[in-house]
Parts: sequence; structure tokens; C-alpha cells
Amino acid sequence: MSIEKMPRVRLAHLPTPLDEAPRLTAALGGPRILIKRDDLTGLAFGGNKTRKLEFLMADALRQNADVVFTAGAPQSNHCRQTAAAARKLGLRCVLVFTAGQHNEPQGNLLLDQLLKAEVVYTENDDTDAVMEELAEEERRKGHRPYVIPVGGSNGIGTLGYAGLVLELAQQLFERGLSVSRVYFSSGSGGTQGGLVLGARLYHASYRLIGVSPGRKADGVKANVARTANEGAAVLGLPVRFAPHEIEVNDRFTGPAYGISTPESHEAIRLFAETEGILLDPVYTAKAAAAMIHDIRGGAVGREETVLFIHTGGTPALFAYHAELAQ
Ligand SMILES: Cc1ncc(COP(=O)(O)O)c(C=O)c1O
Repeated sequence: MSIEKMPRVRLAHLPTPLDEAPRLTAALGGPRILIKRDDLTGLAFGGNKTRKLEFLMADALRQNADVVFTAGAPQSNHCRQTAAAARKLGLRCVLVFTAGQHNEPQGNLLLDQLLKAEVVYTENDDTDAVMEELAEEERRKGHRPYVIPVGGSNGIGTLGYAGLVLELAQQLFERGLSVSRVYFSSGSGGTQGGLVLGARLYHASYRLIGVSPGRKADGVKANVARTANEGAAVLGLPVRFAPHEIEVNDRFTGPAYGISTPESHEAIRLFAETEGILLDPVYTAKAAAAMIHDIRGGAVGREETVLFIHTGGTPALFAYHAELAQ
């Protein structure tokens, strides 16, 4: 089946803008840089998860769900966008949070409260098991739960970023442009899984460089290959991906997920000061740091055109105010 025929609810403002970044190029003495503004997907401050949720929530509605479960860290952008999508569609939303950094009601957690998400904290790292237990309780009470895995990264969610490949092809075609590399943050794998699947389906030849916000590259590659394969299975397509075919850079993750680095802080300031574009401290700042490093180090030729996908996450800036304030 083609992606266009899959059940989908409209939650995102698409296509997202494709911005030029000439001042960033000048500051880096580098190539032409384009920024795909998926921070502007529009739902409750936007971000990449809204593309996945268009397919996941359509599946939830198809199953007549009345309550949606998902899980993450208290500053999860995925949880915030899921809570907003559920509200927009008239469903309850239960968020299962593992204890993490930045637990005060700021940033995404504040927005979750405003969206009246029901929050459950757990010390059990197996959040799938916790969600399943809570979903079973809901079933016993006569409700119809729908469980979305961490990051929305399963075969259905993955279709969101396969769709971006087509959207981008159209935008590049209209401007007579082509790009050689694409940089973006890659964690639970569904974003990159969708991109590699879409690139295979629509014959895109650019390098897809996922930058890890925390995990080692091997772990991210395994997630990406799994989600891409699950996405292909949902579409009934006989294509397969192996982890060694996936490109992931884990040299900018710093000490751990959610912990900023000097390079990520510099990336936030550089994007803000040159282009007026705000990155987030957890995901996009580290992805941008990897791109900046490659440009400065000469790995990217000046004649190339590079695309950065801004995957959102900006509400977390406010939860990180203590680290970012000057
Ligand atoms: C802002 C932002 N960028 C990138 C990602 C990574 O996306 P994925 O989990 O699909 O790899 C996330 C995931 O939570 C995110 O919130």
C-alpha cells in the first residue's frame, strides 16, 4: 500500500517551511544550508512527533480508543505532542514518566499539565510493561486504551518521516535545488527509520546523518533499522534495512542524554544569533553541533548544499534556563 492511502488524521501544518540560512553559512564559512522547520508543525509548539502522530492517532481512532497511553522522560516532546493530539481528538491521555532531570513544572511538563494529561511516575525502566498494566486496568473499567511506544517509534509512526521525503522532494524541485547531506537528531529511531524508508521508496540519494542525543550509535542504528523494517511491513513492501546501512554520529552526545555540552550550547547561540532560530537543548542542539563540526572541519565541501531538519523540542529551553541563562 502507498503511504497516501494509509489512515491519517491532520494534526500538523504541512508542508513545513524550508528556510535558507545564509548568515549561518557566512558565520561558518561553509556551504549553503537549508533548514526544514519541523519545529513549526504547529501542534502545541510543534515538533517531529506530530508527523508520526498523524498516523498513530488515526490508528487509535480506527480502533475506537478513548484513552491513549505513551511514555518518556518528564521533558519528553513526544509526550507533550501526544497529549495535545489526544485533546484535539477528544481523547484522554495518560503519560508514564520515568524519573529524570528537570522535573519541575516547566517546559514540556508545564504544557502537559495545561493539556490535562494524566501523569504516572514509575521507577520501572520497562515502561512498555507499565503501560500495558495500566491499559489492562482501563480495559477492566470498560475503557478502550491505545498504547503508543516511547517516541512513537513503531511501523505506523515511522510513516510520518517517510512522508517528509516526498514533501522535501517537492520543495527542492520547485526551487531547483538538491542536497547532499541531511543532519537531524535520532533517538528512538522512528524519524530516521522513516527517512531511510522514504529515501528508498522515492529514490532520494542524499546522506542521512542521524545524530544521537544520548545512546551509543549501535543502539540507535538498531532502532532505526527495526522501525524502517516495521514501516515497510505496514506498507506490505519487500524492502529490508540492516543496522550497518544506517549512518549515526554519537560523537556529540556528551556525558548522557539530557546533559548539555559546550558544543550544544554554542550551537544554540549560533543559530539564535545568526538566523533568529531557536534550537532545543536535548536534541537539535547536539545534531546542530555535529553539522557545525563537519562544516568547520572541512568534511562538508563549500559547493555542497546541506539540510538540517529542525525537529522541535523548543519548550525544553525553559526547563534548562539555569544552564542557558547568561
Ligand atoms: C526534538 C526532538 N528531536 C528528535 C527526536 C528524535 O526522534 P526519534 O525518537 O524519532 O529518533 C526527538 C524525540 O523525542 C525529539 O523530541
